[in-house]
Amino acid sequence: MACTDSDYAYLRELVLEQSANLIDPSRNALFDMRLTPIARSAGASNLGDFVNILKADRPAHLHRAVAEAMTINETSFFRDLTPFEMLRQTILPRLIEQRAESRRLRLWSAASSTGQEAYSLAMLIAEHFPLISGWDVKIFGTDISRQVIDYARRGRYRRLEVNRGLPARMLLKYMERDGEEWEVCSRIRSMCEFEYANLCSPLPKLPAFDLVMLRNVLLYFPQRDRRRLFRQVHRQMEPDGCLVLGNAEQAEDSTKLFEVEFASNSYFYRPIFSGL
Ligand SMILES: C[S@@+](CC[C@H](N)C(=O)[O-])C[C@H]1O[C@@H](n2cnc3c(N)ncnc32)[C@H](O)[C@@H]1O
Repeated sequence: MACTDSDYAYLRELVLEQSANLIDPSRNALFDMRLTPIARSAGASNLGDFVNILKADRPAHLHRAVAEAMTINETSFFRDLTPFEMLRQTILPRLIEQRAESRRLRLWSAASSTGQEAYSLAMLIAEHFPLISGWDVKIFGTDISRQVIDYARRGRYRRLEVNRGLPARMLLKYMERDGEEWEVCSRIRSMCEFEYANLCSPLPKLPAFDLVMLRNVLLYFPQRDRRRLFRQVHRQMEPDGCLVLGNAEQAEDSTKLFEVEFASNSYFYRPIFSGL
């Protein structure tokens, strides 16, 4: 039985409930493409039958698998460049000064996809802040898709992936070639950890963060879930920490939680704690 309009509507609602990702009805073909392999492995002969399985037993693992399969994982090393310049010129020097006593930094790539953002942060620190090489610096990458988390943990990238955004000098300095792939060197890997986290559900145990990169994920969320997400992120930050959003994203409707600061041709957010 082929997928009907109401089956697609059910799938859209399921994804929204599981991951807060909004999928436009014009993208129904994406369900066919991404879910057919899962449907087959669940014993369904087509997507319509799979929807019946999802509805009948409400199997939690399959509901999660549907949401994970529908995520958009587009990313690259040093994506958009400007935020990384702002980190190099303004945010990191300031944080380093603030943490001179504890000599400890905790960074979060929330919605890290396949890990390029977290590894870019580690490379940026190694390259431009050698004076903190003896500090306790950890970058946490989290994502709702277990598949991309496994990929990030492997720390191995294809030529096409390293060619997107990673300057040749940094590639040679921080990655080692192994056949057709490039592997992140042990020094950079040891700074990064990856784990599963759904930003719209209670988070796993994570430290309080000095810096949060929340980029290119808000755009998939409806307004009400964005507000929920900002509250979660706010709770997870050090009072003097910084939040960086994607180029086209804003902390709109969260003005009581964050104030904006302009720096290095870009902007970032600081959490507000007073009056809460
Ligand atoms: C387009 S990628 C952005 C990756 C990276 N932040 C960047 O800017 O290059 C969006 C990521 O958000 C993840 N994602 C979507 N909804 C999520 C949720 N509810 N919780 C955690 N991660 C989510 C997706 O799995 C995907 O890997």
